[in-house]
Amino acid sequence: MSAPRAVARLRAMSAVLEFRDVTVRRGQSVLVDGIDWVVEEDERWVVLGPNGAGKTTLMQIASTQMHPSSGTAKILGAQMGRVDVFELRPRIGLTSAALAERIPRAERVRDVVVSASYGVLGRWREEYEDLDHERAQGLLVEIGIAHLGDRTFGTLSEGERKRVQIARALMVDPEVLLLDEPAAGLDLGGREDLVSTLSMLAYDPDSPATVLISHHVEEIPPGFTHVMMLRQGKVVAAGLLEEELNEVNLSATFGMPLSLWHEDGRWAARRRTRRATF
Ligand SMILES: Nc1ncnc2c1ncn2[C@@H]1O[C@H](COP(=O)(O)OP(=O)(O)OP(=O)(O)O)[C@@H](O)[C@H]1O
Ligand SMILES: [Mg+2]
Repeated sequence: MSAPRAVARLRAMSAVLEFRDVTVRRGQSVLVDGIDWVVEEDERWVVLGPNGAGKTTLMQIASTQMHPSSGTAKILGAQMGRVDVFELRPRIGLTSAALAERIPRAERVRDVVVSASYGVLGRWREEYEDLDHERAQGLLVEIGIAHLGDRTFGTLSEGERKRVQIARALMVDPEVLLLDEPAAGLDLGGREDLVSTLSMLAYDPDSPATVLISHHVEEIPPGFTHVMMLRQGKVVAAGLLEEELNEVNLSATFGMPLSLWHEDGRWAARRRTRRATF
């Protein structure tokens, strides 16, 4: 574990995320409704739910970009509304489609990653330390994209871009890693590569607490420990993956009868038919 995170962990010694009765309203709509959720620092959560369930809304609160309309959200031990979010943000690693859109297409990959240490998108005139460059290079190797360091972001495939974003999110040595649908848009091989990378991170005890948003049980990397299932802004089930991820909860979450398979640490699901075999 690196020194800054070791110190931060000693200092924090509390849940990474602690949501109590978190509700978000916009006009007449309730986006998330009375969410209780605690993420501890050694946990790896997957958040599953259909389109519009409220997953990204929860992620926006967890990344300090949104305040709950009611209830309390503690992030890295600090209560939203009572703390300067600009102090918290460098301690949070985030990937999302919205963030990806803001990465300049002409930016070199190694600069996309290294510039995270200054919390900026798009390298300008900052001077980076050798240590920052070494760390960025180490992450490119770890995430399997060292050969792309000199390419510009705009020339990468979707899967390669996803990996660059994860390397960038890890650059700040975050205490929590939030990944909003990192597998969206990937082909089968790309998805499998990403699942392997996330599995490797999940099993690494030095990795930060992780929350992965997904629509598909096939994208759950081995090593993930917990699941939250959301439907229409409400929690259908939350807890240990092995206990809560079952056909009853998954069918309730997606609103149709589903069969679920679990083999070699991986999950698969499809609509239940009378003779369902996989
Ligand atoms: N400002 C707003 N006003 C009204 N409704 C909103 C607003 N912002 C989001 N919503 C709605 O809140 C719901 C939850 O949105 P959210 O983005 O959290 O869903 P999601 O689970 O991430 O969905 P997806 O899987 O499609 O990404 C959606 O129905 C969305 O249309
Ligand atoms: Mg979303």
